[in-house]
Amino acid sequence: VTNNERNTKLEDHRMRLWSPKHPGRKMSRAELATAVNRKLAQLYPGKRSLRVTARWIKDLELGVTSWPGAQRRKALRIVLGASSDARLGLFDSHPRSGDPIGNGTATPPAADRQPVDTPAQVPTVRRPVTGGSTGHPGQEVDWTRPQTGRVYDYLLGGKDHRPPDRMMGDDLLAAFPTAREAAAQTRAFLERTVQMLAASGIRQFLDIGAGIPRPGCTHETAQAIASDCRVVYVDHDPVVMQHVRARHVSHPAGRVDHVQADLLHPQAILDSTAVRDTFDWHQPIAVLLGAVVHHIPDDEDATTAIKKMLAPMPLGSALVISHATIDFSHPEQVAAYEQMHAVGRIPVRARTASAIRNFLHGLELIDPGLVPIAEWHPDPSEQLPAPERIGMYGAVGWIR
Ligand SMILES: C[S@@+](CC[C@H](N)C(=O)[O-])C[C@H]1O[C@@H](n2cnc3c(N)ncnc32)[C@H](O)[C@@H]1O
Repeated sequence: VTNNERNTKLEDHRMRLWSPKHPGRKMSRAELATAVNRKLAQLYPGKRSLRVTARWIKDLELGVTSWPGAQRRKALRIVLGASSDARLGLFDSHPRSGDPIGNGTATPPAADRQPVDTPAQVPTVRRPVTGGSTGHPGQEVDWTRPQTGRVYDYLLGGKDHRPPDRMMGDDLLAAFPTAREAAAQTRAFLERTVQMLAASGIRQFLDIGAGIPRPGCTHETAQAIASDCRVVYVDHDPVVMQHVRARHVSHPAGRVDHVQADLLHPQAILDSTAVRDTFDWHQPIAVLLGAVVHHIPDDEDATTAIKKMLAPMPLGSALVISHATIDFSHPEQVAAYEQMHAVGRIPVRARTASAIRNFLHGLELIDPGLVPIAEWHPDPSEQLPAPERIGMYGAVGWIR
């Protein structure tokens, strides 16, 4: 495995375990490091040089470090409950031949190609098909052109992408080598905001531009805190919706539904059966706009869509937004962005803090306000990446 190919298998396994210290939270890298060190001390007493840190786990997950030796692999396997190194995406210190993510020459074993399980501790049922209405009918699947959801999946180390998506992803990585880290931070931000909102009593989530399902997705995160949370996933991409339909399974006490619709048509979302049947309109709803508004090029279109989306939300509802920016970028990054944007090789309209603040007009922002996403209530055990590595702002605001 070459550098910078993110090891999502390792992260997926960690995300199936709960934090020993914080009820309802997934195991952090620091907690995993502590558990691995305990196991190493049992297996190899006195070999303190084997000890690992949260940073080491992070580097492994992000694919920026070499692979661990046999002793550390064994401890990781035991702690994470994996039957083999391959299940954790770990191999001998020599690179594997082929590209496990990109061109499919190193196809993983069949068992590893299964969708990621929901955490074993959360009992799940597949709800009867209640909705999944199409608010934006008629959009055909176009496999010949890259699609945002699938490019993002590629950057996150997922398996649901095709050659055009990988080509765009590779172009992005060539121009912005930290693009995988940026995607991972974007997911982590969304997850932290959902955790905080569920912990503050929100039980309904409207996740627009939901993307291809990943571990720690909105209903998993929210229902881990309160099992009766209700979530509606919205995306305009039919392929994303196929995955959402197939993989999102609610806790029996809650509810999960979905609608294929476009943020540019908020009324179609609000009128959909999924939204009308899922939400109690006397209770607050969190509207999640994670990394989606920057796919709307026109400022006025974006402002109108957000306003219309929020207008009927009950008081006490909330908006979460994450949005691309070049505010922190070095001149050469700005030039690369502008060049790619001009020829349509980057489907993202980066905006300044003040332009993004316009979308938040009238909301009461939760501290620390609109900030680089990694700085929004970070995990204290993690080292903050420099904002220019990530290039994303994020904020959460209350509708009062
Ligand atoms: C980068 S992913 C973000 C996934 C997730 N929200 C997150 O924060 O990690 C953007 C998703 O938004 C979807 N999308 C883009 N424009 C959209 C629109 N106008 N309406 C609905 N979905 C859209 C794409 O299909 C893609 O799945």
